[in-house]
Amino acid sequence: MTFKTLCVGLFFALFLTHMYTSIPDNIEERWKVMALNAVAKTCIFMATCLEKIGIMKFEEFIDMIFRLDYVQPLSDEYITVVDTAFANIPVRLYLPKKKAETPRRAVIYFHGGGFCLGSFKQRALDYLNRWTANKLEAVVVGVDYRLAPRHHFPAQFEDCSAVVRFFLQDSTLAKYGVDPTRICISGDSSGGALAAAVTQQVQNDPKIKHRIKIQALLYPILQTIDIYLPSHRENVHGLFITRDVGIRLLSLYFSKDEALMQAMRRNQHMPLESKHLFKLANWSTLLPEKYRKDHVYTEPILGRSTFSLPALMDHRASPLLANDSQLQNLPLTYVLTCQNDLVRDDGFIYVSRLRNIGVQVAHVHMQDGIHGALSFITLPFYLHLGVRIKDMYVNWLDNNL
Ligand SMILES: *[C@@H]1O[C@H](CO)[C@@H](O)[C@H](O)[C@H]1NC(C)=O
Ligand SMILES: *[C@@H]1O[C@H](CO)[C@@H](O)[C@H](O)[C@H]1NC(C)=O
Repeated sequence: MTFKTLCVGLFFALFLTHMYTSIPDNIEERWKVMALNAVAKTCIFMATCLEKIGIMKFEEFIDMIFRLDYVQPLSDEYITVVDTAFANIPVRLYLPKKKAETPRRAVIYFHGGGFCLGSFKQRALDYLNRWTANKLEAVVVGVDYRLAPRHHFPAQFEDCSAVVRFFLQDSTLAKYGVDPTRICISGDSSGGALAAAVTQQVQNDPKIKHRIKIQALLYPILQTIDIYLPSHRENVHGLFITRDVGIRLLSLYFSKDEALMQAMRRNQHMPLESKHLFKLANWSTLLPEKYRKDHVYTEPILGRSTFSLPALMDHRASPLLANDSQLQNLPLTYVLTCQNDLVRDDGFIYVSRLRNIGVQVAHVHMQDGIHGALSFITLPFYLHLGVRIKDMYVNWLDNNL
C-alpha cells in the first residue's frame, strides 16, 4: 500500500467518525451540511495532528487546503477580470464591459478567513464578486491584505485602509468611471471586522474627501475582548468551525505567543486597564433577550495575563470598541447574522449599538444560518443556504447603493 492510499484511507476513516454529529433540526440540506462539516472537522483534526508531530503548523495545513480552491482571473462576456495592485496591495478588479451612461457604483470586498487564511482567489468569492459586478453593473474590488501569523495586526487593517484610500482618490474613481457618492465596503467574517473598522476610519477622517454610502457586514467578527458570549457558549463544537479553532486563528492575529491563545480560551486575556471598554460590548445589556436565554453574565476577569498587547483594546481590531461619537457618522449598514455561529452575538451587539445612536441598520438574522456558508456557493457544494445569503446581500446592495 502506498503512502497516498494510506492517507486517503485515513481521511475517509476520520470523515466517517465526524459524519454523524447531531445538527439543529431546522438546517436544510442536512446530508450536505453534515458532509461539509465532517470534511471541515477532519481537516482540523489532521492539521492539529500534523502540528503536534511537528510536520507543519496548523494554519499552514489549512492554508494548503484553501489554496486547492483558488482560481485565476477569468474575463467573460460581461465582465473584465484583472489582478493588479492598489497602493502596492494585490487586488482583483471586476469591470463591467457594457458602456455606462452614468458613473458606476462600486463595492470593495474584504474576504474572511480568521485574519490568517483566504484570498479573493477563492472560487466562491470570485463567483460572488463577479455576480455582484454583473447584477449591479458595478466595479468590484477584491482585496488580498497581508495575513497572520506572518503579519500581525494592524497589517491587515492598514492594507484594507490603504486600498480604500487609494480607490477614493478622484483620479482612481475617474479612471474606472465610479460615482464617488455610491461606494460600498463589504466583508464576511474577519473581512467583516476589517470592513467595519475601515468604514469607521473613513467616515471620521476629515482628510478624506469622499464618504462611504453603505457598508455590508456578513456574519462579522466585531470584538475579541469577550470570547464567552452566549453564541460562543452555544457553538463550542459548532458546525464547520469550533470555538477552539476560532480562538486559535484570532490569537494569531495579535501574536504567536501560545500564552495568548490559552488565555483567550479561558477568556482571561484582557488587561486591567481595559475595564472601561466592556460596557461597549456588554451582552447582558446589548443582546436581545431572546438570545440571552438563561445564560448567566459574569464580570470579566482582568489582569491575569503576562503579556501586554495594546492591540487587544484597539477599535481597529475590535470595531465594537469604538465610542458612540465614532459610530455616529456611520452610513446605512447591513448586518447579516447566523444562528449557528460563534460570532452571532458580535453582529447583534453592533446592531444594538448603532441603532441606539440612530445609525440606520438593516439586520437580517438567519435562524437556519451557518457561519461561512458563502464559501460553498459554487459546485460541487452549491449549498442552498449560501446562495440565499448571496442573493439577499446582492439584492440589498442593488436597492440601497
Ligand atoms: C454589564 O451589564 C450588567 C447589567 O445587565 C451590569 O450588571 C454589569 O456590571 C455590566 N458589566 C460591565 C463590565 O459593564
Ligand atoms: C471617542 O474616541 C475618540 C478617539 O479615540 C476620542 O478622540 C474622543 O474623545 C472619544 N469621545 C468620547 C465622547 O469619549
